[in-house]
Amino acid sequence: MEIKGPYSINGILEVPGDKSISHRSVIISALTRQKIIVDNFLLSQDCMKTLGIMEKLGVRYDLNKTSLLIQGCGIDGFNEPDDVLYVGNSGTTIRLLAGLLCTCSFLSVLSGDPSINNRPMDRIIKPLREMGAEVFGRSGNNKAPLVIFGKEYLKGKTFNLSISSAQVKSCLLFAGMSAEGVTEIRQPSASRDHTERMLEYFGAEIDYSEGNNVKIKKSSLKGRNLYIPGDFSSAAFFIIAALILEDSEIIIKNVGINPTRTYLLEILKKMGGNIEIINCRTTNNEPVADIKVSSSELKATDINEKFMPNIIDEIPILSVACAFASGNTIIKGAKELRVKESDRIKAIVTEFGKIGIKIKENEDGFIIYGNREYDLLQADIESYGDHRIAMALSIAALKGRNKISIKNSGCIDTSFPGFKEKLFSIINLK
Ligand code: S3P
Repeated sequence: MEIKGPYSINGILEVPGDKSISHRSVIISALTRQKIIVDNFLLSQDCMKTLGIMEKLGVRYDLNKTSLLIQGCGIDGFNEPDDVLYVGNSGTTIRLLAGLLCTCSFLSVLSGDPSINNRPMDRIIKPLREMGAEVFGRSGNNKAPLVIFGKEYLKGKTFNLSISSAQVKSCLLFAGMSAEGVTEIRQPSASRDHTERMLEYFGAEIDYSEGNNVKIKKSSLKGRNLYIPGDFSSAAFFIIAALILEDSEIIIKNVGINPTRTYLLEILKKMGGNIEIINCRTTNNEPVADIKVSSSELKATDINEKFMPNIIDEIPILSVACAFASGNTIIKGAKELRVKESDRIKAIVTEFGKIGIKIKENEDGFIIYGNREYDLLQADIESYGDHRIAMALSIAALKGRNKISIKNSGCIDTSFPGFKEKLFSIINLK
């Protein structure tokens, strides 16, 4: 992708369906014995991997544009797959399905691309084994491919997680749904709660009313049709584009505003961002709204690391906002960024440096030296095959007068197919 600005951004738009909720809609619908219609399903590479794997397990579906019909077959309706289950780049697919497959009495193998097969899996393997699961991984049970000898009977257990991760929590909830007794997951701080909300909506015996903890018992599900709201993490790229570009105003309609995902809005408001949340409503147990944003003079603020899990996917694009704010921003407590689709700390620091944004790397984050007047340098920059790095850099490039080329931007399809077309349809050269 090549961009030579500066641009403004104006218009009314929608972003594709939420990635986290789309993954869960396939898995949880398959666990019912009903036909479920999922509207506004995200047709990204990651979600298609989850759908493809469920098909290999025997789940039938029909996809018509973004409307997905799933014929649930219940967990005992799944078949032993006749090949390795390939998750591509998707951490959510591998971690959530590992929990489920541990409770299916057949052999399965989960593998992914080089990025996935290097991301830490001990965070799921260890607790699953404590429930009695037979799951093995490379590198001393820490890396995929994962080999699972599924068992019908696992034991429920209480876990005190040292990191707050929705993927780990959801993995254990799926294992816990078929285990004897209660499975309880306690986290240091809240992580996204889409699994809990959807399971509750489908009638599971789940309790997540107590702070950061969740308990689940063996449950059978009663399915209901679903509408997937727009992905807040995808909306974040446009929100920040409208804030940092002059003469801009946008409305993004139908965006999920689950509070475990939207800490970014608190930070941007503290930075002086003109943001209005309008038309709030609830759809299928998830809060949804329209978001109106206009150009703003941003100033740096403190970022409370306690809420890092609620903003972790938005750090690359938040860093762009901080670069064009007055004052310096310290991002800390963000070590998890090192084990995402790429080492996002290294990626942000290196590529910001190439386009002339001053930034200093720390082990658990970085310091961004903000300047509303940065004149970005001409450069060829790298996405590291990471969708969120590619999109964040493309938004930064809209500010520059010099040409910026982003290599390997095809990875954006991981979460946001059609991003480039959508962006180019609402920007105007100044
Ligand atoms: C996700 C959870 C988060 C997030 C990822 C999606 C999910 O990962 O970064 O993009 O859908 O559960 P962690 O659970 O590793 O924090």
